[in-house]
Amino acid sequence: RKRTVILISGRGSNMAALIEAADDSSFPAKIVGVISDKAEAAGLGLAASNGIATRVVARGDFASKDAHDAAIDAALREFGAEIVCLAGYMRLLTNGFVEKWQGRMINIHPALLPLLKGLDTHQRALDAGLRIHGCTVHFVTAAMDDGPIIAQSAVPVLTGDDEKALSARVLGAEHALYPMALRLVAEGKARMEGGRTVFSGFEAPNHNGL
Ligand code: GAR
Repeated sequence: RKRTVILISGRGSNMAALIEAADDSSFPAKIVGVISDKAEAAGLGLAASNGIATRVVARGDFASKDAHDAAIDAALREFGAEIVCLAGYMRLLTNGFVEKWQGRMINIHPALLPLLKGLDTHQRALDAGLRIHGCTVHFVTAAMDDGPIIAQSAVPVLTGDDEKALSARVLGAEHALYPMALRLVAEGKARMEGGRTVFSGFEAPNHNGL
């Protein structure tokens, strides 16, 4: 099973979904650690209560962004990480760090990329009048929210939705999608090659049964 470390900054509900999926010994990834850039992240307690080792690597403890990312890189190596999952990690990573983990680091973004990169995706989906919204898991590259797509899940925007209702619907989709995408990467069925995702042996997945 591929040794997998999750980076978080907060609540950690996607982290919890990955931990739960990987709890099954037939899942191809094993969660060996959780790293947070925030000491107060609620996800840290959740991880610890599941018996997962946790580390806080706070930006304020380092003089530069490069030094911060170097410390995260060192923690990943201590965990023996083979795959890195960003799960609500709310900080941009330096190019040097991203290059080191390219092809082995994935992220979940709460929108159907390449629409709505960046923050506040649910309010922006509502403001744009979108009728379909969703989430994306992609390989992480130097450009923010721009790496090759691994899997997507769509949800409807319903009449009367506010940000809270829409974000809750997308979050439910995230919790189903992220374990599926991690499985593909851990099994080597979705690989990053030449700036694209290459799928082997099956049709590229979404999570809507389409
Ligand atoms: C999730 O919706 C995730 O997609 C999003 O933050 C939330 C974290 O929730 N990530 C980003 O916006 C990345 N820029 P969680 O901590 O409960 O998983």
